[in-house]
Amino acid sequence: MSITKQTIAIIGAGGSMGSAIAKSLADGNYRLLLFDTDLEKLGSLSEIIQRNHSAADLEPMSCSHESCWEADIIIFAVPHSAEKALAKQIRDVATQKVVISIANPVDVDFENLTTRPDTSAAEELQEWLPHSKVIKAFNTTFAADFEQPVIDGKQTDSFIAGNDKAALRMVSELVETAGFNPVIAGDLTVSRTLERMQLMLMQLTIKNDYEWHAGWKILHN
Ligand SMILES: NC(=O)c1ccc[n+]([C@@H]2O[C@H](COP(=O)([O-])OP(=O)(O)OC[C@H]3O[C@@H](n4cnc5c(N)ncnc54)[C@H](OP(=O)(O)O)[C@@H]3O)[C@@H](O)[C@H]2O)c1
Repeated sequence: MSITKQTIAIIGAGGSMGSAIAKSLADGNYRLLLFDTDLEKLGSLSEIIQRNHSAADLEPMSCSHESCWEADIIIFAVPHSAEKALAKQIRDVATQKVVISIANPVDVDFENLTTRPDTSAAEELQEWLPHSKVIKAFNTTFAADFEQPVIDGKQTDSFIAGNDKAALRMVSELVETAGFNPVIAGDLTVSRTLERMQLMLMQLTIKNDYEWHAGWKILHN
């Protein structure tokens, strides 16, 4: 476990995933910088977190660039359609930093991915942030899973993919702190599989009414 406190910027912290991630990391050895286009959402989120986690170290921020400048790890908790513009805004302060792609680029009918088959949301983000270390994580866990990562008596797996070994280790620790079992699945191209897996889980969730509380578990010896 890292002894130094890491600073994490969550961009889109007022949304379903951003707020779930922030709450799940509030007891960890992290300083959390919360940013969202809707600053009002951040006030109520901060209040809830401070009430339930008195030792939480967090700060609502009014600027994505400043948040990312201060951060060691940046989490893009926004729709994939917003990521290119966001990447352009923060590129100069994200050099050599770990940037987590949680996006599932699904269409409005949950029928297809909007990315080409020979790439993924994570690889596109890496193209837009060529000097950052993009890691895929948290895309295979629904927002509701963060409150209850143990489903049917089993701790949900959370798959991670990326090209930088040290960055993968940092993100594995983060995923573990959030309550999931981290599974490093491969390099960043494996994001194509992870994003497709989650499209299928969304389709099954709708079909079988899993109430958006479902996850993945590899059973093994
Ligand atoms: N929901 C899930 O269970 C789940 C699971 C795995 C992965 N994901 C992925 O997680 C990401 C977020 O999904 P979500 O369900 O949390 O969506 P959401 O509830 O709509 O949250 C997204 C948040 O990001 C904000 N935002 C958008 N553009 C921004 C920008 N440029 N700068 C700062 N904030 C911005 C939005 O504000 P406005 O509302 O004002 O636009 C909103 O508060 C998506 O990529 C999704 O594919 C979601």
